Amino acid sequence: MDRTTIVIFGISGDLAQRKLIPALFNLYQKKRLKGDFKIVGFAGRSWSDEELRKIAREGIDKFAGYQVNDDKWHEFKNRLYYISGKFQEESSFTNLANQLESLEDKPANRLYYLATPPSFFTNIIDNLGRTGQIDEENGWRRVVIEKPFGTDLESAKKINHDILKVLREDQIYRIDHYLGKETVQNILIARFANTIFEPVWNRNYISNVQITVAEKVGLEHRAGYYDTVGVVRDMFQNHLLQLLSLVAMEPPASYKANDQRDEKVKVLKAVRRFTHDEVKKYSVLGQYRGYKEEEGVVENSQTPTYAAIQFFIDNWRWQGVPFYLRSGKMMAEKMSEIVIQFKCPPHLMFPLPENYKFTSNTLSLCLQPDEGIHLKFETKVPDTIAETKSVDLEYHYKDVFGEKSIPEAYERLLLDALLGDAALFTRSDRSEIAWEILDPIIEAWQNPNENPLAIYEQNSWGPKEADELLNNQEHSWIHGCGNHS
Ligand SMILES: NC(=O)c1ccc[n+]([C@@H]2O[C@H](COP(=O)([O-])OP(=O)(O)OC[C@H]3O[C@@H](n4cnc5c(N)ncnc54)[C@H](OP(=O)(O)O)[C@@H]3O)[C@@H](O)[C@H]2O)c1
Repeated sequence: MDRTTIVIFGISGDLAQRKLIPALFNLYQKKRLKGDFKIVGFAGRSWSDEELRKIAREGIDKFAGYQVNDDKWHEFKNRLYYISGKFQEESSFTNLANQLESLEDKPANRLYYLATPPSFFTNIIDNLGRTGQIDEENGWRRVVIEKPFGTDLESAKKINHDILKVLREDQIYRIDHYLGKETVQNILIARFANTIFEPVWNRNYISNVQITVAEKVGLEHRAGYYDTVGVVRDMFQNHLLQLLSLVAMEPPASYKANDQRDEKVKVLKAVRRFTHDEVKKYSVLGQYRGYKEEEGVVENSQTPTYAAIQFFIDNWRWQGVPFYLRSGKMMAEKMSEIVIQFKCPPHLMFPLPENYKFTSNTLSLCLQPDEGIHLKFETKVPDTIAETKSVDLEYHYKDVFGEKSIPEAYERLLLDALLGDAALFTRSDRSEIAWEILDPIIEAWQNPNENPLAIYEQNSWGPKEADELLNNQEHSWIHGCGNHS
């Protein structure tokens, strides 16, 4: 990384101010942005370099949550530049090329970051190609693309097709910021850096797997985006199916990007596709009460704000084990967790009362806000003959590594893109397979006469139909992390 220019398209937007610039500055403070680097912002409004620097600092002060070293900030801000232009105009890209030429010494690598509305992804890549800014004679060229990546299989295929006319697959870094989270990366470490879990990580010992990503907030003024998208596209296509892959995939041959991505794709290929009639049996989509009255939501909107879906993975390891995935807005709590529920012991020889309810073991991988791992197991209640109680073994990052040990996901992802490590980014085949799984579910729930959305109360855990989905299989939703009993 001797000489690198990071070009951020959409630098005047929310993502850049809230996440990207704070992440880049922290990488600089930690001395991880090595060599001669520059950050060039590109957006529509006519800012000067100084205006960008001022807004960047405000973003860091407001959103970063770490100590700012003012000397370091002074050095960093002088590496920030702003260029005004329009994504759809080739002349703006000719201007960008000329400006970069005068700023850079050669050779210089370039990381282009598309923090823009998705409708501009292909426009920008096309214009970069047309103006010779993808050519690699003077250093590598890579492009980071934000989510959402398409809205269905057809649109994802089209974007892939269009951008692959200009870029090689290994130049494309499709981001899912969830994969940059420390606790998400720890799933593979927990599974494959220990010997105690893997032997029981299969259909012989696991009863079911539950993955929850719950948001406490509602629309937060994003109705224009969210009401056209809904929870399945917004959360399942990327985050939840990524988590399922990490829990269910086979051990990769190495930690290298394509070995990991091959296994993720392989497990998604084994996820059962539902027929139209099966969708209702295995999924519940809902909307929180009051959603239709939110500002910016279209009249009689059929957009789901909650979904619970039961998936099956048809392979040797997982045959018959339900994977219950759920996500929703306006839930009782903000939390993300994965609960592995093990089977009950095959035989209990203890003198227990009739109909005694035995709790089976659970291993909970806690992603946020309780960052750690909980293992629940049975122990004997003292002074009884053989009464049992579930107790909890807990590990928390903050206890071992300190309160501020967990970096922002974007730090890791930006650094990996600069280093050319694509393991935490989505390959084109994965983005398409995820849509292949979800398209029939989205489609079946689009007709309110056939499948009306289940209405649920705000600050609840979703509609009762989602509880029934599990109860029908004699399972129930489990809170494995935090202080839940
Ligand atoms: N915000 C988040 O926390 C977040 C989280 C995850 C993913 N994302 C994704 O990140 C991307 C950006 O989101 P955002 O929230 O930052 O969006 P945003 O606040 O709406 O920012 C859009 C940016 O694009 C620029 N822009 C729009 N049209 C343009 C045009 N025709 N020519 C030149 N510049 C143009 C805007 O510049 P001007 O206004 O100066 O024209 C602005 O800098 C989206 O794909 C979003 O889905 C965002």
